[in-house]
This record gives sequence, C-alpha cells and structure tokens, in this order.
Amino acid sequence: MPEDRFENWQPPKIVDGEMTKWHWVVKGVDSFRLGSRTDIGAFTYIHAVNGVTIEDNVQIGAGCRIYSVSTIDQKEGLVTIKKNAKIGAGTTILPGVTIGENSIIGAHSLVKTDIPDNSAAWGVPAKVMGVVQGGKIILEKKSNN
Ligand SMILES: CC(C)(COP(=O)(O)OP(=O)(O)OC[C@H]1O[C@@H](n2cnc3c(N)ncnc32)[C@H](O)[C@@H]1OP(=O)(O)O)[C@@H](O)C(=O)NCCC(=O)NCCS
Repeated sequence: MPEDRFENWQPPKIVDGEMTKWHWVVKGVDSFRLGSRTDIGAFTYIHAVNGVTIEDNVQIGAGCRIYSVSTIDQKEGLVTIKKNAKIGAGTTILPGVTIGENSIIGAHSLVKTDIPDNSAAWGVPAKVMGVVQGGKIILEKKSNN
C-alpha cells in the first residue's frame, strides 16, 4: 500500500499576500476557503478577493494562477474547485469558474468556463476532452494541439 502523504495533513498558516511555508500566495485571505488534505504547488498565486473555495482532496500543480477578479478585462466572481479535482501545473483559472468533482485539468490550461464533474479538460481555452472514471482519463475528443 502506498504511503499516505496526507496522513499528517495540517491546515497551512496563511497570511494575506505572503508566501506560505509551501511557497504559494493568497491575496484576499478572508474570502479564501481551503478544504482538508489539499495540496497546492509552489508559486501558485490565488487572488481570492471575490471568493475562492478549494474543497477537500484537491491537488493543484506548481505555478498556477487562480483569479476571482481580473482587472485586465473587468471580470469578477467566485472560483470553486470541487473535491478531488486535480489542476495541472501552470494553469490559469479565470473569475466565476467552477471545476467539478474529480475533474482533471491538463497542464498549462486557461480555464474560462465551468468544467463539469468527472471531466478531463485542457488547452487554451480549456475544453472537455474526455471523462474521468476511477481517477483515469478516457478520451472522447481528438486533441488539436
Ligand atoms: C492532461 C493529462 C493528465 C493527460 O494525460 P494522458 O491521459 O496521459 O493524455 P495523453 O498524454 O495521452 O494526451 C492525449 C492528447 O492530449 C494532448 N494533451 C495532453 N495534455 C495536454 C495539455 N496539458 N495541454 C494540451 N494538450 C494536451 C496530447 O498531446 C495528446 O494529443 P494527441 O492525441 O493529438 O496526440 C496530462 O497531459 C497533464 O497535463 N498532466 C498534468 C501533470 C502536471 O501538471 N503535473 C504537475 C503537478 S503534480
């Protein structure tokens, strides 16, 4: 049986705008909700002023950007990443987006629209390419990349 790396999971100490011990940053910490047994990679930036909720068991790769507000195109809205979802490294999630339970987002995606539960999605912008069953991706669409 593989070692459970979350056995001793503790909620991280988060100070607004400062790097956590794990080297990720939240701005707007009062509107940030973090579930248990979550894993956020180094150099991920979370702009939570309009609300970012990360549910239990979510894994986020290094160097992601999660925005509940975008001052470039004046968008704002709650971002929700539902339980067991996995976000590949270098992904950007824009305001108002919900990523469904168990879904997997490929590395370097731009997520502009909601991704349903149990979906595999990637690309710029991210599109649903398949389903996730038992943690495995079953492709349904041909990639254009
Ligand atoms: C999305 C992902 C899980 C898919 O893995 P997979 O099921 O093994 O899929 P494949 O590698 O067979 O790729 C299927 C197709 O999608 C394309 N593809 C895969 N990931 C892609 C991505 N992130 N962006 C764009 N295209 C991607 C492949 O090029 C391939 O295209 P083709 O059919 O034209 O050849 C994986 O590519 C990925 O991005 N993982 C994230 C890993 C990561 O970030 N780790 C660090 C944090 S722990």
